[in-house]
Amino acid sequence: MERTFLMVKPDAVQRNLIGDIVHRFEQKGFKLIGAKFMLISNELAEKHYAEHIGKPFFNDLVSFITSGPVFAMVWEGDNIISTARKMMGKTNPREADIGTIRGDYGIVTHRNIIHGSDSIESAQREISLFFKDSELIKYKKDI
Ligand code: CMP
Repeated sequence: MERTFLMVKPDAVQRNLIGDIVHRFEQKGFKLIGAKFMLISNELAEKHYAEHIGKPFFNDLVSFITSGPVFAMVWEGDNIISTARKMMGKTNPREADIGTIRGDYGIVTHRNIIHGSDSIESAQREISLFFKDSELIKYKKDI
């Protein structure tokens, strides 16, 4: 079954949006298999955002993601990577449709509420950066 890494970013934690965001994925029917409320170190942020090293916004990106707690999660479900990205909406909240998470709660790209993996390879990489295998819970979920 496909897995993805989702992270409620510091702006959304500050705005008490964890519950709403989790609720959307629960309601959709996906299965939560790991979650962690945590502070991200500079080292972890730089690894997580390695593909953006050298871009003009890289330093701001690292400062922002390490500025306060995040809620990191692993979810499982059929075609979850692409579906979760549809539920999140476009990276720039200005372009994200109303009804999506970023469209409903975000205003600007550098405070865009949530992160979600964009491919199977990045999901595997991001999950292993944030979670040990033993922290992912195996359980039966029928509905
Ligand atoms: P995320 O999905 O976490 O992945 C990379 C992040 O970089 C993205 O969300 C945005 O928050 C951020 N980002 C992308 N482009 C810009 C930009 N032009 N200015 C600031 N932040 C950006």
